Amino acid sequence: MQHFLPAIPLTGAKIVVVGEGEAAIAKARLFAGSPAQLVWHVGAREKAIPADIAAHAEITRGELADDAFDGARFVFLALDDGALTDEMAQKARAAGALVNAVDRPAQCDFNTPALIERGPITIGVSSGGGAPVIAAEIRRRIETALRPGVGLMSTLAHELRDAVKERLSDFTQRRAFWRRHLRGPAADLADKGDEAGARASLRRALIAESAAPAAPQSGVVHLVGAGPGDPDLLTVRAARLLADADVIVHDRLIPEALLRRARRDAHFINVGKARNAHSVPQRDIEAILIEEARKGHLVIRLKGGDPFVFGRGGEELEALRAAGLEARVTPGVTAALACAASAGAPLTHRDDAQAVTFVTGRAKLGGPDADFRAFAAPNHTVVFYMGVDTVETIERGMLDAGRAPATPVAVIENGTRHDERVLTGSLSGLSALVKRGGVAGPAILLIGETARHARTRDALVSAAQTEAAA
Ligand SMILES: C[S@@+](CC[C@H](N)C(=O)[O-])C[C@H]1O[C@@H](n2cnc3c(N)ncnc32)[C@H](O)[C@@H]1O
Repeated sequence: MQHFLPAIPLTGAKIVVVGEGEAAIAKARLFAGSPAQLVWHVGAREKAIPADIAAHAEITRGELADDAFDGARFVFLALDDGALTDEMAQKARAAGALVNAVDRPAQCDFNTPALIERGPITIGVSSGGGAPVIAAEIRRRIETALRPGVGLMSTLAHELRDAVKERLSDFTQRRAFWRRHLRGPAADLADKGDEAGARASLRRALIAESAAPAAPQSGVVHLVGAGPGDPDLLTVRAARLLADADVIVHDRLIPEALLRRARRDAHFINVGKARNAHSVPQRDIEAILIEEARKGHLVIRLKGGDPFVFGRGGEELEALRAAGLEARVTPGVTAALACAASAGAPLTHRDDAQAVTFVTGRAKLGGPDADFRAFAAPNHTVVFYMGVDTVETIERGMLDAGRAPATPVAVIENGTRHDERVLTGSLSGLSALVKRGGVAGPAILLIGETARHARTRDALVSAAQTEAAA
């Protein structure tokens, strides 16, 4: 660790800001509204003091008083003059303060981290002053992952701390109480800004649990769509659930970058299925979900794409409900949507396609075979999932059902990932295209007039550049 970020209480702490302009305003604003005693010594030029700062700060002007830094905890210097900055920094240190001099790293005792404030919670991200833009970017990402009600829940946790301690004497019980309720109905109410509702919900839960402490609670299982592979295509809700989960039961194709969004101490169970190699049978996956939820865990079943599009999410939901467990579903971006967007091939188009159908290339054994006639009409986009192994049957079936041999096709492999490939051709050459291309990763087969728009990422970029140059 190169820098340590301590949490220093601000109640009654004297903070002095000296200087003018945007930098001085930004430093003063950091503490306006905090319980610190803020003093801003503005130079002669600073005329308009922003109202939010004026309401909280003591403003001084003219010569800096000799005792200006007495009792100060932090002094911020936003001055143009280097020699004057040095002189003031020495005075401030002599008075026992820590100094931050804007844009003068050599004169700083500390850097100001990128901060997030939510009620009593403060999060700081520091690059040691060397890469503030990266620190700010990390802050932005953390902000999007935080639930809107996290500040309110922290305030309520503070408020109810003693009552919880009084009613639940055992530490493990208290921890279980908070872990359960900080993401239960009270947290949902806090997210909506309903302070009274969240407080009442926590109080009711506390009374109920102290009256019947032994009642074990079942956990919840969330079936969550992880999208096609690009971590940016994870939904905000999926990211939040990942960060909360105790147990994550995931598929083989979920990228490492996505799993890193989970808690460090979460338990990961890989039930990945490779093509033609089901490593964990479906019934066993359902049993794992039930067993983990019954331990009281928050369980996430993380699935590629969307759980309800060829993801067997329906079966898992039925099994969980039959076991009397609470199960919720969070949708994800399915491969057809992601691949079409990435390759620039719209799935519907006013001229080219008035309908779109998603079809599995691998029907359930004993189930009804794909009826190719049902989607062989022109101006209809058909997207085959899991169709690489059965591409010859698909090509023959579509041709026999009346699709024109010249119908455009696109094969999109590893869509949205760094190794995405887009192969284009026509229906009568579809299986040859897949074989020649050595398609081995997950791929969709896009069949229909709209496939003529499909391009590789490089081709899309160079087409845009050519157009821009014209
Ligand atoms: C078992 S299905 C799961 C589909 C997933 N639930 C969804 O909504 O995308 C697996 C098939 O999805 C398609 N697929 C998944 N991710 C893909 C990707 N990144 N690029 C292309 N196809 C993908 C492939 O056809 C793969 O064989």
